[in-house]
Amino acid sequence: MIVGIKNKIDNFYIVKNYRNIYHYVKPYKIRALLAVFITLPVGMMDAIIAMALKPYMDVVMIEKNLAASSYIPLLIVLFSLLQSGFNYSSTYLNAWVGAKISSGLKYDLFKRLMRYEARFFDRNTSGNIQMRFNSDVDSACTGFLNNMKLFTTRFFSSLSLITVLLMNSWKLAIVALIVLVGALYPLTTIRKRIGNIMARTVFSGAAVMTHYTEAFNGNRVVMSYNLHDRLLRKFLKALNEVFTLSMKMVQRTGILSPLMHFIISLGIAAIIWLGSYLIVHSDLSPGGFVSFITALLLLYQPVKSIGNDYNAMQISLMAMERVFDLIKASPSITDRPSAQPLERICSGISYKNVWFEYEKDKPVLQDINLQVKVGETVALVGNSGGGKSTLVSLLPRFYDVTSGHVFIDNVDIRDITIDSLRDKIAVVFQDNFLFSGTIRENILMGKENASPDELNCALRSSCLEEFVTSLELGLDTEIGERGVLLSGGQKQRVAIARAFLKNAPIVILDEATSALDNKSEAVVQEAIENLMKDRTVFVIAHRLSTVRNADKIVVINHGEIKEIGTHEELIAQKDSEYASLYYTQFD
Ligand SMILES: Nc1ncnc2c1ncn2[C@@H]1O[C@H](COP(=O)(O)OP(=O)(O)OP(=O)(O)O)[C@@H](O)[C@H]1O
Ligand SMILES: [Mg+2]
Repeated sequence: MIVGIKNKIDNFYIVKNYRNIYHYVKPYKIRALLAVFITLPVGMMDAIIAMALKPYMDVVMIEKNLAASSYIPLLIVLFSLLQSGFNYSSTYLNAWVGAKISSGLKYDLFKRLMRYEARFFDRNTSGNIQMRFNSDVDSACTGFLNNMKLFTTRFFSSLSLITVLLMNSWKLAIVALIVLVGALYPLTTIRKRIGNIMARTVFSGAAVMTHYTEAFNGNRVVMSYNLHDRLLRKFLKALNEVFTLSMKMVQRTGILSPLMHFIISLGIAAIIWLGSYLIVHSDLSPGGFVSFITALLLLYQPVKSIGNDYNAMQISLMAMERVFDLIKASPSITDRPSAQPLERICSGISYKNVWFEYEKDKPVLQDINLQVKVGETVALVGNSGGGKSTLVSLLPRFYDVTSGHVFIDNVDIRDITIDSLRDKIAVVFQDNFLFSGTIRENILMGKENASPDELNCALRSSCLEEFVTSLELGLDTEIGERGVLLSGGQKQRVAIARAFLKNAPIVILDEATSALDNKSEAVVQEAIENLMKDRTVFVIAHRLSTVRNADKIVVINHGEIKEIGTHEELIAQKDSEYASLYYTQFD
């Protein structure tokens, strides 16, 4: 599903998009205006050339007066020179303004991207994000501005050519204008014709992009399962879909230009017929007629291609709408107006009648009630897919509860500012994302201005010291994109060090020690225990040896809490789920 792709026919969409984009043009409005104004004379110069033909014909060719005409070729050269100069300046200015607007938009989109809730990332593919955040912006800005420029040039050129027509013969001009309006009419149907196809094209284009990303990120899996052919087939399918759609697009829009071409030929035929009649009856001078026909042919040229330009402009307008859909969409997990920052945690955390569903009517957590006092360690165990990770992800508000409450010191976490809430929580995931850069940079993400002592302490606590000193560049070793140059356990320890450095009162460890060998795990366990004083820890682990010291063990199966107790209590109940889990692991 693509979030926010709409295909509504909105008559005011041009005005609306203009208003939206004006915000981004505003800082550069002088240059933008200049870019448009330069196109005005460019558009009108054709008319001047056509206009010059009347005196030339009548004075030189008919009256055979050479002296009066000697300035005409000179003027034509001069005008063309000016036209070229203006053309270049406006192209340059347009590109400049376009690139500035596109950077502005991309900046805002990136800011927005980082503030989207987890659900947004669940529902969108990476290809979709790349399309909407990159190609759409480019096509919106550059395309739109180029088309604006083309459009204004053409518009003013047409306007001035029409003036030449009227000056030469208003009778002929009326016929020409009627034909023009008739020829432009098919354009009004474009948006209806391409709206739906555009939406599908974006979707398929995104699918193509996703294939690239997956082939890149999943290259090891591709190699080990020999997926080349299979992925290639899937990719070809996506390409074919894009091909079919673009052909459909051509089918629906390609007819417009030939249609307009035909209507205009009819007009020219009518004008030549009527013009001959007017000349014969001395209503029009031969020079006037030549000037008229030249102006008409010059007018005909832009109108012929206006169909394609208008089409391209609609496409970029639609891209712009998609971009503003994203910018204007309000993330659903935000601060309430009355939200207060969380200073410290005094009594504890509690889940009260918490229900949660990722998809409607499919509860993943059912009526969860859980109290955790400050400083306690809670271990969550249970079947895979039971809802442990989901339960802890509600605390930093990656997702909001469907119903019920999560309280910190009896304040619903939705009444706490998100930044202050997340500041108090350090999370170590099962598959931790590391950023490209050095080990130091990645660890310092826990606390930007950490002192060397704090950094060393974090290194020691996460058993990284030995590994880091063995590296030639130590902490300044580059770890590659997503940390690909590190081993699984090393990555996990870097992530743990990052969490230690954050020094948050709540720690969530979701399978955080699963990639450590027994020796490291024992050391990390000890470090965690040292750090657990005055800290509240949620630990999820499949290896029950790592959870037995917890103050509270919670068994979650199929979204429900089945048992809560200490290791000793639960093991004492012979028929408890925990006991059976424990004995299957340690028998
Ligand atoms: N982002 C998501 N969107 C939709 N459904 C999800 C999402 N994440 C998890 N689920 C579903 O929610 C259920 C609970 O998943 P969760 O990750 O909380 O389980 P878990 O107990 O942590 O399992 P494991 O021990 O294997 O890590 C699963 O059925 C899973 O398919
Ligand atoms: Mg999990």
